[in-house]
Amino acid sequence: MAFSNSNKVSLSGKTVIVTGANTGIGYETALECAKRGGRVILACRDETKGLKAIEIIQKLTANKNVILKRLDLASLNSVREFAQDILKNERRLDILINNAGAIMLGNQKTIDGFQLEMQVNYLAPVLITMLLLDLLKKSAPSRIVNVSSKAAKYAKKFTPEQINSYKSHVNAYSNSKLGNILFTQVLAEKLKDFNVSVFSLHPGAIYTDIAIQHLNPCIQSCGKCFSNIFLKTPVEGSQTTLYVALEQGIEHLTGRHFEECKVVKSYSTAKDPKQAKQIWDSTLKLLSYDENETIRI
Ligand SMILES: NC(=O)c1ccc[n+]([C@@H]2O[C@H](COP(=O)([O-])OP(=O)(O)OC[C@H]3O[C@@H](n4cnc5c(N)ncnc54)[C@H](OP(=O)(O)O)[C@@H]3O)[C@@H](O)[C@H]2O)c1
Repeated sequence: MAFSNSNKVSLSGKTVIVTGANTGIGYETALECAKRGGRVILACRDETKGLKAIEIIQKLTANKNVILKRLDLASLNSVREFAQDILKNERRLDILINNAGAIMLGNQKTIDGFQLEMQVNYLAPVLITMLLLDLLKKSAPSRIVNVSSKAAKYAKKFTPEQINSYKSHVNAYSNSKLGNILFTQVLAEKLKDFNVSVFSLHPGAIYTDIAIQHLNPCIQSCGKCFSNIFLKTPVEGSQTTLYVALEQGIEHLTGRHFEECKVVKSYSTAKDPKQAKQIWDSTLKLLSYDENETIRI
C-alpha cells in the first residue's frame, strides 16, 4: 500500500514549503500535504504554472490555505527575497521540502557566477535552508527534506574546487545530488539538539519532465507507452518524500538517506565525514553565509 494511504498524519495548523511544486513529484507532494489540511506554500519560478497548480489543488482538496510564492533558484537574490518574505509573513514552518531540480543544463553560469545546475540543485537549496533555519527551530519538531538522487552514487571527485566547475552534464547532476546528501549529513549533526530532523532521499525513476524533457520526441512518446514498465508515476515518486516528511518516530534517523520509504546505507560516495565538512565549509563561504549566528540560536 502506498505510504500516503497508510499514514494518516494531519497537517492542520502546520506549514509546509515545497519547492518546484507546480509539476511532477513536487506537485504530488504539495497536493498530499494540502489534502492533510496544511498551509502549503508552493515555491515556483513560473507564476502561471504555479497558479494553475494551486487552482487544481484547491479544487481537489477544498483547502484554501494553499499559496504561491515566487522562487527562482537560479538567482540568489530571488532566494533571499523568498526567505525574507517567509520570515516576515509566516508564523511557523514545520516542513521544508527542497524538491526543485534540473538536469542537463550544460556549462551555463547563473547571474551569481555559479554553475547553473549546481546552483539550482544544491547551492540555492542550501541557502534557503540556512535562511529559514530560525523559523524551523522555532517551529520544532520540524523537518527538512532534501530530494536528492541515486545519481549521487556516480559523483566523481566532489571536492570544494569542483563545486563551481563543469566537466559534463552527468558529472554536474551527480555532484549536485551528492551535495544534497552531504549537506543533509552535516546539517543533521548540527541540529541534533534542536528537534529539527533532516533527511535526504532518492525518489525512484519517475516519469516527469526532468526525466524526459531532453529526450527526442520519438523516444518521449515511446517512453510514454512504456513508462509504466520502466518508470514510476509522480504519485509513486512522491511517496518517499512524504514518508520522510510525515512519518512519526523516524527522528532518530536524522541525517540519513532514504529510498522506497526505507533508510538505506550511505552510497560509497557519501561516506566521508571529512569531505562532507569540507564541502559544507566551502559551500557556506561561496554563499557568503555566516552559519554561527543561526545555528547557535
Ligand atoms: N524524475 C526522476 O526520475 C528523478 C530521479 C531522481 C531524482 N529526482 C529529483 O526529484 C526532484 C523533482 O523532480 P521531478 O522528477 O518532479 O522533475 P520535474 O517534474 O521536472 O520538476 C522539477 C521542478 O523543479 C522546478 N525548477 C527547475 N528549475 C528551477 C529553478 N531555477 N527555480 C525554481 N524551480 C525550478 C521546475 O519548475 P518548472 O516547471 O518551471 O521547470 C519543476 O517545478 C528533483 O530534485 C530531481 O532531481 C527525480
